Order: sequence, then C-alpha cells, then structure tokens
Amino acid sequence: MLTIAPSILAADFSRLGEEIRDIEAAGADWIHVDIMDNHFVPNLTFGPPIVSMIRPVTQLPFDVHLMTESPETLFPALAAAGANRLSVHPEACVHLHRTLAAIRELGLKAGVALNPHTPLSVLEYILAEIDLVLIMTINPGFGGQTFLPSMLPKLRELREMLARKGRQDIRIEVDGGINAETAALVTEAGADALVAGTYIFGQQDRASAIASLRAASRLRR
Ligand code: DX5
Ligand code: ZN
Repeated sequence: MLTIAPSILAADFSRLGEEIRDIEAAGADWIHVDIMDNHFVPNLTFGPPIVSMIRPVTQLPFDVHLMTESPETLFPALAAAGANRLSVHPEACVHLHRTLAAIRELGLKAGVALNPHTPLSVLEYILAEIDLVLIMTINPGFGGQTFLPSMLPKLRELREMLARKGRQDIRIEVDGGINAETAALVTEAGADALVAGTYIFGQQDRASAIASLRAASRLRR
C-alpha cells in the first residue's frame, strides 16, 4: 500500500481549512502534522488547539510528527484533539518504551521517527510497541530542504530488519525532500508512506502533484 501524507507545514496558514479540503479532494491519504517546540528543533509551529480546530475539516487520519522534548506531555491533548498516529524521536524520550506504550494506551498508532544520524538499532527491542517508523530524509525543523540520498541504504536495511523479524506490517514512512524523483528512489528502497510538503503545496494543481508521486513510485496505491 502506498500512502501519501501531505505536510501542512507547507500550507498557506491563513487559509488552512481550505488547504486541507483541497488536498483531501486531490487524493491525499493522511494529513501530516508537524509539531515543533523550538527546543528539540529550531522552529516553532502549533499544538493541540489547532489540531482540534482542523479536525472537523477532513475525514483523513492525522499523522502527527512530534518534534518536541518530552512529547508524552502532549499525548492526552492530542488524542482529545483527534490525532490518529503519533510519532516521537528517541532522543526526545527518556523512556522510549514507556512513551510508545502510552500512545497505544490512548488507542492511537505509535511511530518512531529517526533523524539521519540515528541508527536503526534503537528499534531492536521496541519493535513490538510500534506501528510505524518515520525515516527522516532531512534534518527535522524546516520544510523545503534537500533530500539526503545517504538515507537510501538505511531504508533498505530497515525493510530487511522488518522482514527478518516478521514485522512487514510496520509502515515505513519517509519525511523530507520528497518529490517525484525522490519518491521513486525511496519506494524502491522500501518506503510505503511518503510525507511531502513543499512538493504538493507548492503546486496549484495538488491532484496532479499527488498523482505524480504515485506514478513515480514502485507501489501505486
Ligand atoms: C520537517 C518536517 C517535514 C516537512 C517536510 O521537520 O518533519 O514534515 O514538512 O517538508 P518538505 O516536504 O518540504 O521537505
Ligand atoms: Zn514531519
């Protein structure tokens, strides 16, 4: 299955509701929501109140990417606001195993987001606790950065690790610098969910932008 998750970080925030309706009509599968605290990453976005305000605008699942210190303090409010998936960075969690369990206890899907330098070995003893791995193909904090091709071997290794452990059900999502060209590379290497901000929101015709990602990918739907 190929999932397209437009990142609203690149949307026009003065018209956020319309932007979300537009990408839903254009064929998006999830809405990727980047929460940044200006500590874990050098940028600041928004929190649960805005997630709650955009919840009635769309039926699509909210794929929330937490780039915050101590992300667990936000989980109850994000669950109440209508988030569906929560991904956390290991470096921001003192007790990652407990943090992942807390996500699932709220009935949400749990993900681990790995910075470019973060080894896959951090996943070894927590695979039973997760539904998704988010491989950062840039350093987190900003949209519009250039894809790091050195993440392609990491994707291949992750795909092999999940196959070895019989956990092919775990989704492999990529985030950063995804466009039609890089979509081909990452899906070939094992990704099955693509976050794309600038590439989708930067085009007038979002339906053709999303269609071009699917057309370029090894998996089409
Ligand atoms: C960056 C965010 C990304 C960002 C991707 O820290 O996690 O989701 O929106 O933006 P593009 O697709 O423009 O690289
Ligand atoms: Zn993100």
